[in-house]
Amino acid sequence: MDTIKAIMTRRSVRAFTEQAIAAEDLRTLLAAAMNAPSAADGRPWQFVVVTDRGRLDRLAEEADGGNALFRQARAAVLICLDPAREGFAGFGEQDCACAAQNFQLAAHALGLGTVWIAVINVPPREAACRKILGLPATVRPFALFPVGYPAQVPSPEHRYDEARVHREVWS
Ligand SMILES: Cc1cc2nc3c(=O)[nH]c(=O)nc-3n(C[C@H](O)[C@H](O)[C@H](O)COP(=O)(O)O)c2cc1C
Repeated sequence: MDTIKAIMTRRSVRAFTEQAIAAEDLRTLLAAAMNAPSAADGRPWQFVVVTDRGRLDRLAEEADGGNALFRQARAAVLICLDPAREGFAGFGEQDCACAAQNFQLAAHALGLGTVWIAVINVPPREAACRKILGLPATVRPFALFPVGYPAQVPSPEHRYDEARVHREVWS
C-alpha cells in the first residue's frame, strides 16, 4: 500500500475475526516497528509477543478492564521501554511512540487491524502487564497492541484543520 494512503486510511480497530495471523506477518510488524527513528539511534524498545489464548484473555481481564477486544484478538504485542538502551536519557517514550506508529501502519498495510492501548503512566495497566507477562523491573511497559483481522473496518477520516496551521509566525 502507498504510504500516504496507509496513513490517511488507518483507523483503530477494536473488533476482530477469528482468522489466524501468519507468523511471517507478525514478524513484519515487529520489523517495521524496529525500523522506526530513535534518538541517537538508541532503539530503546523491547517487544513481548503474545499469542496464547489464555494469556490474551488475562490481558483482557486485568490490563484493559474486561475489554472484549483482547478476547477476540489473535495476538497482542506489548512495546516496552528499556531505559538502559536510551540513546539520550529521557527520549525513550518518544522513540517507543515512533515504533508504535510504524507498527500500526504496517498492520494496516497488511490488512490487519490494531489499536493503541495506553499502558505507560497508567499504574493498574503497568502492574497487570508486569504480572501477566513477567517483565523485569528494569523495563517499563509502554503500550499494548491487540492484533487481528478487522471484523469492522472504520471509515477513513479527514482531519486536516487549516486553523491549526500557523504560517511563518503564530497567527
Ligand atoms: C497515546 C495513545 C493512547 C491511546 N490509548 C487508548 C486506549 O487505552 N484504549 C483505546 O481503546 N484506544 C486508545 N487509543 C486510540 C485512540 O482512541 C484513537 O487513536 C483515536 O480515537 C483516533 O482514532 P483512530 O485511531 O481510529 O484514528 C490511544 C491512542 C494513542 C495515540
